[in-house]
Amino acid sequence: MKRRSMYMLLPSNKDNSYKYVGFSSEIPIGKSKSITIKDTASHKNINIAIFNISGRFYAIFGSCIHKGGPLSEGFLNGDIVTCPWHGWKYSVKNGKSPHKGGDSINSYKVKVVNGKLYVNSFPSHRGKRVYKPHTAYSELESSVNNYLIQKSNVTTTYNTTTTSASFDKLLHELNNSKIRVLGISTTNANDEIAPRKSTSESALQFALDYTKNKLNTETILIKLRELEIKHCEGYYSKNAKACIFPCSISEMDKEDQMIQIYEKMILWADIVLIATPIRWGSSSSLYYKMIQRMNCVQNQIITNNKFLIRDKVAAFIITGGQDNVQHVAGELMTFWSQLGFVFGKFPFVGWTRGWYSEDTENNYKEMMTRTNVINNKDLKNKAKDSATNIFYQDIIKMMVSALEMSLLVKRHLYDENVINKYNKIINSNSGT
Ligand code: FES
Repeated sequence: MKRRSMYMLLPSNKDNSYKYVGFSSEIPIGKSKSITIKDTASHKNINIAIFNISGRFYAIFGSCIHKGGPLSEGFLNGDIVTCPWHGWKYSVKNGKSPHKGGDSINSYKVKVVNGKLYVNSFPSHRGKRVYKPHTAYSELESSVNNYLIQKSNVTTTYNTTTTSASFDKLLHELNNSKIRVLGISTTNANDEIAPRKSTSESALQFALDYTKNKLNTETILIKLRELEIKHCEGYYSKNAKACIFPCSISEMDKEDQMIQIYEKMILWADIVLIATPIRWGSSSSLYYKMIQRMNCVQNQIITNNKFLIRDKVAAFIITGGQDNVQHVAGELMTFWSQLGFVFGKFPFVGWTRGWYSEDTENNYKEMMTRTNVINNKDLKNKAKDSATNIFYQDIIKMMVSALEMSLLVKRHLYDENVINKYNKIINSNSGT
């Protein structure tokens, strides 16, 4: 009788939906394991996470329904597992979300027979994606996808025939449209306590006004200190694929205004002009806060072969009381080149007064009155309103160069050609 009941517990040979997956002793209490079984219906391999809760075993689909995070590596609290990538939660007993409106995931029955674990390859509960990101996030995601599709269509047309109507149309549009310059001021000067003139922001404003009025561009100025930008939480360090675009922090927190930067930088701007003060030899802390949130833009190249920055130019304004322009310029150019920006001639301008210039209250006045002819009082007085200011002359040179480079890359579909050729080589090498 005892032997018979034991036999009844064993998954039947005919019932091939139960798959042997290992010994129960391999998963101690409170632990989990990732296994792969073949789905009986589809014959595809499926990844399963098995959990041991107080000696009872439960199985759910192993990859998080959000972006595929490994649930067997999640944090287990009671019967709730938290995905290690972005924190989605599931009950391991039935795959359901512990909170209303959350996504659920497939769960599977588990049998233990003579210390052996069997998992049924048919889900006992089917998971469902119900969570919807907030509107601004979804709109950015779909706009960027559409933008990339448009870009790849232009490439195809251009490569088929350089005189196609579509390419002519593009050139026509380009010749009739204004170059768009996005200025990003990264100074953290606190206007609420005591408004003061920031050297980096004043120089940026001059550059934007000049290109708008004299070089016929459209301009937008974003001041980082006026935006609510959350810190990067380092998802990339967990797994390269956990760093998604648009950033998961923007998805989870609709107050986060980094979306404005992504949108203007990827979809609107032709030229991005960054202005930073020098703080102890480096860029401003707000600048770093912003660029760490841009890892997801650069990371798309590595994880998805997706190039979000197309035909765009970057340029930089660096000002400080004392020194280190070259170090800051090197850091800025390294990062923005890795995002996929190109540079014109003279891609940065720098202004400092030297190591012993502790009279920082004079920085702004000194910058505004710096002329080619030092000690010429007349010129000093005129400098702030005219092109006799040597620093402003440099800014004009940089902006003219950036504009010319922008026209060059757009007219020649520079990025599209590079990306297209690169993909062809990679695909032919991999035999696809
Ligand atoms: S929460 Fe699991 S992949 Fe994002």
